[in-house]
Amino acid sequence: YTVDWDASAAEKGGWDSFMDKEIHEDPAAVQRTLLGRLDKHGDINLDEVRIEPHDFKAIDKIIVIACGTAAYAGMVAKYAIEHWVRIPVEVELAHEFRYRDPILTPRTLVVAISQSGETMDTLMALRHAREQGSKVLAICNTQGASIPRESDAVLYTHAGPEVAVASTKAFVAQITAAYVLGLYLAQVKGAMFRDEIQSTLDALKAMPRKIQWILDTQTAAIQKAAEQMVNAKSFLFLGRHVGYPVAMEGALKLKEIAYTFTEGFAAGELKHGPIALVDEGEPIVFIVPPARGRNVLHAKVISGIEEVKARGAFIIAVAEEGDPDVERYADVVFWRPKAPTLMSPLVDVVPLQLFAMDMAKLKGYDVDKPRNLAKSVTVE
Ligand code: G6P
Repeated sequence: YTVDWDASAAEKGGWDSFMDKEIHEDPAAVQRTLLGRLDKHGDINLDEVRIEPHDFKAIDKIIVIACGTAAYAGMVAKYAIEHWVRIPVEVELAHEFRYRDPILTPRTLVVAISQSGETMDTLMALRHAREQGSKVLAICNTQGASIPRESDAVLYTHAGPEVAVASTKAFVAQITAAYVLGLYLAQVKGAMFRDEIQSTLDALKAMPRKIQWILDTQTAAIQKAAEQMVNAKSFLFLGRHVGYPVAMEGALKLKEIAYTFTEGFAAGELKHGPIALVDEGEPIVFIVPPARGRNVLHAKVISGIEEVKARGAFIIAVAEEGDPDVERYADVVFWRPKAPTLMSPLVDVVPLQLFAMDMAKLKGYDVDKPRNLAKSVTVE
């Protein structure tokens, strides 16, 4: 009696790819990133901080520098931090930031987001910011990597090692960490009441369970949709507000691993150009905001769906459980549990990660090692 020992299969913990394993670790990635962030007084803790509290208090602008998925996490955080802290947050691709003349002051906090902590574009941008006297805080998944080493403060994402080239669990962990940073700034700057910070943290703590609900209930529908659309030549991904960066990330996943031409953009732009692309059968993925509380953006997105539906598009919606408008117009729906708008990216992205993976597998591609891409790009 012998046992076949396959080290790589063992590392995947029973999953047939690292990507599959890592998507299923989304809930744990959020949970672990939140762990230990509150001290006994209920105040938020950062990790290694070489920035004085009064310097944090003085911060009047944030510039996020990052690439790829990490930049989309930064875009999500912009909506939340501006809302909570009432300071401007700019998000810039690190390689663009690096070669222009950004307006930085000692009161600007530059936030470098990187899973690997070794992305050369991000590292060079970080140095560019520090040379000009700005403080840099890293949000990073890799202990002791170059980016956290060269930063003034570090907030680690505890997603665990991410092996698949396409980033998944790191994305939800990056949003979580950026939210912790936002709430920390709100705390030191007195921008929110203590109980508001607490209830927002509670909402964040509820997210792993909601992500798990998607993994438990939606995978069959997502697989079926992938089978139905495996031969589609291109996809459009649309969202508004925090759904916009989620649309960009969903489009990125599908191009990275399924080699499908995708475009992600803000749903409000549809009428300013992209609607010309819509043809009979064109698959369009909509991130639908929550319908509750007379959310004006919900109505706007639904009317966008109606417009493209009238032109023959095939509608795939990511929407809150039981949304009746979505039920009426969408050809396929990936449901997510109810969540506050600012928390919704943590659930909305999950079906898109699974969908991209299923599409790539159906096409027979190696989902963990897509062609032409590297996990960490250490050249400029
Ligand atoms: C590469 C990877 C992407 C990743 C990006 C930023 O392009 O293929 O998945 O989002 O780098 O990587 P980082 O390690 O800095 O988050």
